[in-house]
Amino acid sequence: MQQHNYLRLCVLSRSPDHCPCCISTMTFFALLMFSGLMTGCTGNSSYSLPPRLLLVSFDGFRADYLQNYEFPHLQNFIKEGVLVEHVKNVFITKTFPNHYSIVTGLYEESHGIIANSMYDSVTKKHFSDFNDKDPFWWNEAIPIWVTNQLQENRSSAAAMWPGTDVAIYNATPSYFMNYSPSVTFKERLNNITTWLSTSSPPVTFATLYWEEPDASGHKYGPEDKESMRRVLKEVDDHIGDLVQKLKMLGLWESLNVIITSDHGMAQCSESRLINLDLCISRSDYSLIDLTPVAAILPKINITEVYDKLKNCSPHLNVYLKEDIPNRFHYQHNDRIQPIILVADEGWTIVQNKSLSKLGDHGYDNSLPAMHPFLAAHGPAFHRGYKQSTMNIVDIYPMMCHILGLKPQPNNGTLGHTKCLLVDQWCIHLPEAIGIVIGALLVLTTLTCLIIFMQNRLSAPRPFSRLQLQDDDDDPLIE
Ligand SMILES: *[C@@H]1O[C@H](CO)[C@@H](O)[C@H](O)[C@H]1NC(C)=O
Ligand SMILES: *[C@@H]1O[C@H](CO)[C@@H](O)[C@H](O)[C@H]1NC(C)=O
Ligand SMILES: *[C@@H]1O[C@H](CO)[C@@H](O)[C@H](O)[C@H]1NC(C)=O
Ligand SMILES: *[C@@H]1O[C@H](CO)[C@@H](O)[C@H](O)[C@H]1NC(C)=O
Ligand SMILES: *[C@@H]1O[C@H](CO)[C@@H](O)[C@H](O)[C@H]1NC(C)=O
Ligand SMILES: *[C@@H]1O[C@H](CO)[C@@H](O)[C@H](O)[C@H]1NC(C)=O
Ligand SMILES: [Zn+2]
Repeated sequence: MQQHNYLRLCVLSRSPDHCPCCISTMTFFALLMFSGLMTGCTGNSSYSLPPRLLLVSFDGFRADYLQNYEFPHLQNFIKEGVLVEHVKNVFITKTFPNHYSIVTGLYEESHGIIANSMYDSVTKKHFSDFNDKDPFWWNEAIPIWVTNQLQENRSSAAAMWPGTDVAIYNATPSYFMNYSPSVTFKERLNNITTWLSTSSPPVTFATLYWEEPDASGHKYGPEDKESMRRVLKEVDDHIGDLVQKLKMLGLWESLNVIITSDHGMAQCSESRLINLDLCISRSDYSLIDLTPVAAILPKINITEVYDKLKNCSPHLNVYLKEDIPNRFHYQHNDRIQPIILVADEGWTIVQNKSLSKLGDHGYDNSLPAMHPFLAAHGPAFHRGYKQSTMNIVDIYPMMCHILGLKPQPNNGTLGHTKCLLVDQWCIHLPEAIGIVIGALLVLTTLTCLIIFMQNRLSAPRPFSRLQLQDDDDDPLIE
């Protein structure tokens, strides 16, 4: 593993003085052989423990907060681990749907949690943040904590991650808390780390969820720098507490920790309202979800409802279910209503009411403001490595790989996270170019050497030529 690190550092440093490519390549192969020998000799001890993982989400942590605010504790965490600057999440960019995508690797249409507010017209069931305990909604997918617990001698634990207090496939995590926003971060942290350090069979997969900076992002809007600075400092302090606690319990070096989020946050405004009452009568439809993606169940002819809405606002995209763009992967599920309305970034859909939130999310998942980030630390991850992007559905196959679990069918790609992992062979473009140039340099040097040697070997040639000339009877010479 070390050789890989060395190569990466070397090539990333990019300075030809300190690191000529040919040297890096030759050293690389030398180290490759060396480390091969070493792993043959050294042994077992650390590998006999099952790998363990703690997955942490700070709700609504927009990717560029990391560039625009100070996070001393998080930056320290990243320095000793990896960072993915932008995680492309799934549409709609809401909390329940994206948290379920993280732990299943599935698009929303495939895991069934397609919004924070849902209606199933067959069973007439409703789902909302306050009414989420019916397994019916969750059973279209199997989350990683259930899969983990099906392995012998392993258990899972959860501190409030959406869905962890529901018996999905008849199983909750062995250790979990019923959702309550009033339980402090400290209590969640204390309890999850107690479970991680004392349980038998050991907790090998644990999750921890915290409502900030989402709650404040809604309240103040992401452009309120003063308020957000205060809130984000609290979030960073929580990360400091987390690291300190893990160090205190002796878990810091052995436990893999992923810190990520579900979505970002966009600034909303009283001047960017889309008023549905101006376009359609409330008696023509049932409103299942409102903003920034409205789910409309028509009570009259669908085409008529569509026609009334399609020109409602230049900042509103109106889709019949069958015309929802493929890139959203948001179509093939009965819970998706016949018409959906997608507001442009920063616009709020209302039914003749004033603005209630200064910040919101749920918008198009191609918008950078909707993206979260991912940072990770632990024996499975490189140290000091940065990558610009990955998909939120790629987290699941990566976690399964780390835990040695066979993943359920999913929409993620392990290859997208290979460069983060110490046990994966990964080539970046700069490294590949470095290796090619290095090989060319070695070849050129060898060729030069061979030519030089040949020249030296054939050094007596002038004599032979003279001799030849001696033998020559040309009268013009001498
Ligand atoms: C491997 O583990 C066994 C049993 O725990 C121990 O006796 C042995 O010394 C270990 N070998 C190495 C190289 O650590
Ligand atoms: C599970 O734990 C028991 C008791 O500690 C042990 O005997 C057994 O080998 C373990 N099974 C696996 C697959 O590790
Ligand atoms: C955390 O653990 C303490 C001590 O065991 C317990 O009293 C408390 O109820 C737990 N908190 C939650 C939210 O489960
Ligand atoms: C809805 O109305 C359109 C034209 O207004 C009509 O062609 C269509 O048949 C109607 N659909 C239903 C299900 O009534
Ligand atoms: C919408 O708001 C306007 C002005 O605020 C009011 O006059 C009107 O009655 C409201 N319509 C509905 C359907 O609430
Ligand atoms: C996502 O994965 C599921 C499960 O394998 C599969 O049924 C579905 O077709 C996939 N979606 C896409 C867009 O590939
Ligand atoms: Zn939110």
